[in-house]
Amino acid sequence: MKTETLYLETYGCQMNEYDSDRIRNALGASLTEDPRQADIVIVNTCAIREKADQKALSSLGRFKNLKTKNPELIVGVTGCVAQLYGDDLIRRIPHLDFVLGPRAIPGLPRLIEEIRENKSRPVETSFDVEEPFDVLPYHQEGKPTAFVSIQQGCNKKCAYCIVPTVRGAEVNRPLEDIIAEARHLIAKGVKEITLIGQTVNSWKLGRLRFGDLLRDLGEIEGLERIRFTTSYPRDITKKMVESMTEVPKICRHIHLPVQSGSDKVLRLMNRTYTRNWYVDSVKRLRDAMPDIAISSDIIVGYPGETEDDFEQTMTLVEEVGFDSSFSFKYSPRPGTAGEELWRSEERVEESTAGRRLARLQEYQREISLAKNMKRIGKSELVLIEEESRNDSSWLCGRTEHNRIVNFPGEKELIGKMVEVRITEGLANSLRGQYIN
Ligand code: 5AD
Repeated sequence: MKTETLYLETYGCQMNEYDSDRIRNALGASLTEDPRQADIVIVNTCAIREKADQKALSSLGRFKNLKTKNPELIVGVTGCVAQLYGDDLIRRIPHLDFVLGPRAIPGLPRLIEEIRENKSRPVETSFDVEEPFDVLPYHQEGKPTAFVSIQQGCNKKCAYCIVPTVRGAEVNRPLEDIIAEARHLIAKGVKEITLIGQTVNSWKLGRLRFGDLLRDLGEIEGLERIRFTTSYPRDITKKMVESMTEVPKICRHIHLPVQSGSDKVLRLMNRTYTRNWYVDSVKRLRDAMPDIAISSDIIVGYPGETEDDFEQTMTLVEEVGFDSSFSFKYSPRPGTAGEELWRSEERVEESTAGRRLARLQEYQREISLAKNMKRIGKSELVLIEEESRNDSSWLCGRTEHNRIVNFPGEKELIGKMVEVRITEGLANSLRGQYIN
């Protein structure tokens, strides 16, 4: 059988990147950067905000001419937009050959065969796959970092969020499979693994909890660093904090989305915790690990958010002092409780939300910059991941605390853990000199 040539475009979160690597492996395909060279074109989409899903759809439009010129070309859409709109996409986009939801990736090779044999246009969005974790992701030779999925779907009911609709209920992966994938990656030279799941720390299986999983992974020889994302605040347990404190391989960074600093808005979002509760959790983490880095996600302009509610988000950001945060304007998603609220008089004007977002992002920038400036003169252990984006005579890596460091160096050093003396602190990264 000839090797398929695949053009693959990926939008969205780490889970989607992971799924794209699974798609590549499922098809045993080689990748091309030029869609004109491809047998199959796939757009792996994100539905988290309206802008993301429009981007994915307009990207699909770009392949219309190509398909007309080459009717043998297979054009497909996968991921969360595929799951969300299903049949609708096939009806609306005449040059589209298939729609495949995120849970259905193991069935992709069969789907492609079916398309070629029957000239059909299948829509596969069932959550009922027997082995949702079948098909491991492709791993690029020499890359020192890798994701390992430990969970699919989400059981939380955050009112703004489309994820449970498009990725289904939470399914946790068996411990042995996670360990096996980690070992397999380490044998290939991987040094750092990031466990991924929508609410990664709610992983559980029988009597085992996330803290047990961390400890077991910590035993694996050759594995140097363990990260995980994204954590749900209410699912931080004593065991998890103990594992993080006691196992040196576990990086002292937690991505802990707060979403809002106002109790009223948190309630409307159905986040199941209060501002004080969140602040206490941060304190617990910092009491155990004074150096821990904390990052967050924040939504502004959620329906019902008053000026005063927004001020509470600003004071929370000040009080916690996030190392970094991602913030977004609320975007209504089809069929969610938030969308209903957005249709009422509670809706926040676009311009108001925009103004709040700009203020918040500027404030976070100042905080991150001040924190990064404090690193100047210190020596940091950096796992070198790749050449720097803007200058190939520079290298880029991360510290345990997830700070990005750029410094001059030879590309033979990629994959090595080195000491770097920090010389400059910027808002989103550090610069330094490699110490021999
Ligand atoms: N609108 C804006 N931001 C959203 N997020 C999730 N859903 C929405 C939405 N409907 C943000 C949250 C989440 C991050 C991945 O995206 O902050 O943590």
